Amino acid sequence: MKIAIDGPAGAGKSTIARTLASRLSYLYIDTGAMYRALALKAIKAAIDINDPQQLVDLAFHTHISFLPDSQEQKVICDGEDVTADIRSPEVSSVVAQVAAHPAVREQMVRMQQDMARNHSVVMDGRDIGECVLPDADFKFFVTASLEERTRRRIKELQSKGYQVNEEDIRKDIEKRDYQDAHREVGALKILPDSIVIDTTDLTVEEAVTRIMSIIQGGAVIKDAL
Ligand code: DC
Repeated sequence: MKIAIDGPAGAGKSTIARTLASRLSYLYIDTGAMYRALALKAIKAAIDINDPQQLVDLAFHTHISFLPDSQEQKVICDGEDVTADIRSPEVSSVVAQVAAHPAVREQMVRMQQDMARNHSVVMDGRDIGECVLPDADFKFFVTASLEERTRRRIKELQSKGYQVNEEDIRKDIEKRDYQDAHREVGALKILPDSIVIDTTDLTVEEAVTRIMSIIQGGAVIKDAL
């Protein structure tokens, strides 16, 4: 079983996808964390993020894996725990540029497809339904209003001890939305076979329950065919 969850930043995708994967005992793959890990490594190595060849070379020599943890899944890059560092504002401000290069995406998509091979997975990102798992059993597009996404992002950063300015956060989300939706390859979009879940007025639990009931309903229909 392959479940694709796409949507814009701050819509609650990762929390929903992680909860869903844990309920179903499936593997959870956070593809945004993979682009973030590569962006972090590029910053540390002082690589020009506008140079796709350097980034592709870097990605080729990078090993990213996920380690289940009781709280949140740990992200391991070349043996180092980068779970906290990949969420820094510095990484957030450059990651969309890193993810915009078609050659970088090609390599990341290949890595993601390898991870999903032979497993039941819940995978979240921007291009999962279209590029990574086009044959997914279910494709969800999880979204929320810009206001609500800004509010959630501020809460998340404050809980991690960052000083935040509401206007800066809103502009950063708007900029990323634009970059994610307008890139050449793997642009964020609602597909004809996506099921849209608007989480603006939903708790995580309500969103997960809604998705679970769609999956269970769909599985019953598939069994009957
Ligand atoms: O979901 P996130 O905010 O952690 O994603 C970080 C960045 O990576 C974001 O700018 C979009 C990009 N991304 C992407 O281009 N394709 C994916 N499959 C996942 C994330």
